Amino acid sequence: MLSNEMEFKNLIKLAKNIIVITGAGVSAESGIPTFRGAPKLRWRNYKPESLANMPAFVKSSSLVWEFYHYRREICLKASPNNAHLALSSFELRCLKENKQCTLITQNVDGLHKRAGSKNIIEIHGSLFETKCMKCHSIEDNFTSPICDGLANRGSPEEDSKLSDIPVEQLPHCDKCHGLLRPNVVWFGESLPEQALEDSIKLLNKCDLCLVVGTSAVVEPVASFPHQVIARGVPVVEFNIEKTPITNNSRYFFQGPSGSILPSLLS
Ligand code: OAD
Repeated sequence: MLSNEMEFKNLIKLAKNIIVITGAGVSAESGIPTFRGAPKLRWRNYKPESLANMPAFVKSSSLVWEFYHYRREICLKASPNNAHLALSSFELRCLKENKQCTLITQNVDGLHKRAGSKNIIEIHGSLFETKCMKCHSIEDNFTSPICDGLANRGSPEEDSKLSDIPVEQLPHCDKCHGLLRPNVVWFGESLPEQALEDSIKLLNKCDLCLVVGTSAVVEPVASFPHQVIARGVPVVEFNIEKTPITNNSRYFFQGPSGSILPSLLS
């Protein structure tokens, strides 16, 4: 075993309170496109951030729903990969060894939960939750397609026809019939209060932080590792390439997380 690997395993042995921060890279090997790397999310001619915001939804809820319908369908067809599975086994092992292990994910694809992770904060929300624009109720929703109006829609091709689904054919709330939106954090919106509060408590308490498959450029999560490092707590990074946190990390393990995590966390 390489010395970095041994030292990392020793850090795990000593730690009592571990947080794991994940980003889109952890799901890349499940075939889910990332935002900035390869494979990159491409949908028609739009940048994801130009659709993932409230003004875009107000302007064309049909277009924004088609975009999210496309993403939901990709994720529903995908399966958790070895990185998701290694992280859920790691949580179980921590539990047996009386350590606390919490996963803070920026991913909205639901794959960590499907892999069995339980102690998880989905800090950017979930593609598989809806939120009513009228009564604000949040519900799980794994239906495919989410409504008849979106069946066979959402093609990513640039020459797809204009998005013209009448609003009454988009997803609506069972309780008050308000228009539903995906319960994901959009650009310009704050993170869910409870998720942020819980994350901050963990950042102030953890004694080891693992960061997997994130470009570490989207705030506030991009700052989380730096807050931990500022307390002198080790951060260990796993990514196929260097990021803004690599130079300040205790160890950097380079490679696809589905290949490197299983042995490093075993
Ligand atoms: P990004 O797409 O910005 O970054 C993906 C990271 O994963 C990059 O650093 C890649 O090098 C790395 N990567 C790719 N394949 C990998 C693999 N097989 N194993 C390990 N690492 C791999 O995704 P995020 O950092 O998650 O926000 O992006 C953060 C946020 O930006 C997202 O949650 C989303 C987006 O805008 C919202 O939607 C609110």
